[in-house]
Amino acid sequence: MRTNSIIFLDFASTTPVDQRVVEAMMPYFNQMYGNSSSTHQFGQLADHALEDSRRVVADFIGSTPNEIVFTSCGSESDNLALRGVAFAERDQRGAAHILISPVEHHAVSITALQLQELHGFEVEFLPVDQYGIVDPDEVARRIRKDTAIVSVIHANNEIGSINPISDIGEICRARGVRLHTDSVQGAAHLPVNVDDLNVDLISLGAHKFYGPKGIGVLYVREGTPIYPILTGGGQEQNLRAGTHNTPYIVGLAKAFELAQSDHEERQTKYLQMRDQIINQVLDSIPDSRLTGHPTMRLPNHASFIFKNVDGNTLLMMLDAAGYACSSGSACKTGDPEPSDVLTSLDLSREWALGSLRVSLGQITKQEQIDGFLGTLPNIVSQVRELIPQ
Ligand SMILES: Cc1ncc(COP(=O)(O)O)c(C=O)c1O
Repeated sequence: MRTNSIIFLDFASTTPVDQRVVEAMMPYFNQMYGNSSSTHQFGQLADHALEDSRRVVADFIGSTPNEIVFTSCGSESDNLALRGVAFAERDQRGAAHILISPVEHHAVSITALQLQELHGFEVEFLPVDQYGIVDPDEVARRIRKDTAIVSVIHANNEIGSINPISDIGEICRARGVRLHTDSVQGAAHLPVNVDDLNVDLISLGAHKFYGPKGIGVLYVREGTPIYPILTGGGQEQNLRAGTHNTPYIVGLAKAFELAQSDHEERQTKYLQMRDQIINQVLDSIPDSRLTGHPTMRLPNHASFIFKNVDGNTLLMMLDAAGYACSSGSACKTGDPEPSDVLTSLDLSREWALGSLRVSLGQITKQEQIDGFLGTLPNIVSQVRELIPQ
């Protein structure tokens, strides 16, 4: 398969690894390949790289290094946060209520629902507004003495909206309940400071910010009750057993440093193109709507729904025309149902099935966007003609 003629507009799904990140990682595959837990010099070299990486991540998020837990991915971070805190809080103070938003990534929502189905927790979903944003007053209204954990996504992967995490965090703190935020998308584009955000746990994943796939972080505020979900060795403050993946950890830290150091510069580039996409799509395609908030959204993220359009067919036809995009809907896997996120926005089926996400990256060029915007209206019309009205 040739991919060099296809334009990738799906950077919310993943990003290419930055060459500077590749170079930082390389020596740890076959030169400094020691096990960071070994006492000899090979081990020490790996351990130094590990602890330097931990410090870099901690400095950027405003935490101490011992509050950083390296995991295998964003999903694992979400699992550790939810399972680890829920079980510990239930043991320590009988708290068995879990409060989450309906626009969480499945790594949070399916985990919470499994805690309910298999382990007797009670999961409550917060309401969201038309943009998929949680109102902090609703958290204040629903949080309880026996709430074990609140989890609200920082920036949504499907519709790009950014939640008022800091305000939600103030409420949780005043009530003595731990707040987790999934910032797997957010951290690629927004400053992530644990005190500004008022959070106790944050999930990060390197492959959204030009780092390697298969490596993540969970920030855990000191004093947070939490049990490990992966047991064995004592790595990561006894919270995540397993030999450290040193090259990937080094890569994550380097990529995070690059993303957090110049996110303002990256934003400026994205914003103009994102807003061009939003305005032109809404102007040129009848029966089209933006999903997510018009301004409180990820700078590289434009997402839409089109009435009477099959999202799966739309993606296939865009792919054939040379554009790799994504749908917010599970229909891309053949499931004819709209995604949970779109369902939570109370959209009718005729709208919710026709979703499209366009997400920009550092290598996206203006002429690619112009070409895409020239092609999309025709493709949407063609897909509509396939559906009997
Ligand atoms: C918001 C959000 N959370 C979690 C994940 C899962 O991250 P990972 O792919 O690193 O497991 C993703 C990935 O798409 C995501 O967008």
